[in-house]
Amino acid sequence: MSVPFRKNVARMRGYQPGEQPQDGGFIKLNTNENPYPPSPGVRRAILAEAKDTLRLYPDPDATRLRRQAALTYGFELPRVIAGNGSDDLLAMIARAFIGEGDVLCCPTPTYTLYDTLVRIQGGKVRGVPYPDDYSLPPGLFRARGSVTVVASPNSPSGTSVPLATLDRLAAEVTGLLVVDEAYADFAEENALSLARERANVIVLRTFSKSFSLAGMRIGLGFAHPRIIEGLAKVKDSYNMSRLALAAGEAALRDTASMERNAARIRKTRERLVSRLPGVGFTPFPSRANFVLARRSGGKSAKPVYEELKNRKILVRYFDTPRLRDCLRITVGTDAEIEALLSALRKIGG
Ligand SMILES: Cc1ncc(COP(=O)(O)O)c(C=O)c1O
Repeated sequence: MSVPFRKNVARMRGYQPGEQPQDGGFIKLNTNENPYPPSPGVRRAILAEAKDTLRLYPDPDATRLRRQAALTYGFELPRVIAGNGSDDLLAMIARAFIGEGDVLCCPTPTYTLYDTLVRIQGGKVRGVPYPDDYSLPPGLFRARGSVTVVASPNSPSGTSVPLATLDRLAAEVTGLLVVDEAYADFAEENALSLARERANVIVLRTFSKSFSLAGMRIGLGFAHPRIIEGLAKVKDSYNMSRLALAAGEAALRDTASMERNAARIRKTRERLVSRLPGVGFTPFPSRANFVLARRSGGKSAKPVYEELKNRKILVRYFDTPRLRDCLRITVGTDAEIEALLSALRKIGG
């Protein structure tokens, strides 16, 4: 006998994460990880934590990590929440703000997990297509949802929305505005000031990209204390492991190391952007640690993705009408990007 799932769960597809090959040997440019190691202090903190406290539950309030985050980013403690990656914070937001039939608005294409989380809640996504230049679509200002989410820089486009535009959006949306800043450390601007000044904005950060800690699962949210209190009610009580808490705190004590890596990645990004036209791809302007690039002549990029994979180079391909002629390429080391460009040259247009 099969047990019945809730209707919306039965109907939905689960989120499809990027491939994580379990055999080695790939140049992995598909899930926007950092090619450089985290701060040496992170390793020391993890080893110290692993010594004799793992039999005990972690701090359910992530107090030390949040205290350090408050100090690093200039917030008061009640304005900070920590999560098991920013995905966990997005799940808390969905649980707390989206019920049956409620609407989440976002410009599209964007991070597809938003859609999955809303479907789990029985809510609806109102996607407002980005124009070709990926400026914020005017329709989003009138979209009227319980939640509006803007990833800035956006994935998969890599483009960002100016702070002044996000500020105008915050003034006009109904409900909560989420600014998902997973890639903000690679950009020139960020929206943390909105989390201080506006009572309807939450800004999300992750340690998976700029801090080189995708494997630890650490995220932060900054917002008005009333929003933080509401989210804390719906979070898993022990949502972060002891090792993640220790790693996150140590990473924040050495932001200089993260900044150095981010600067290297920005430099490699600009080289990649300048060389892509020579191998048949037009890049979108990127403020992130990846570049979306369109294959010349409107041809599908799938065969190129497959050919790269045969050569043990993984990039991200999205099989949707808008993105079928594009590849999303994570900025790796200079050597990895050289290998990618050389493979693209051999594969040809
Ligand atoms: C826009 C965006 N938000 C959030 C995340 C998730 O980050 P985390 O690893 O912290 O869950 C990603 C990861 O790719 C992302 O692209």
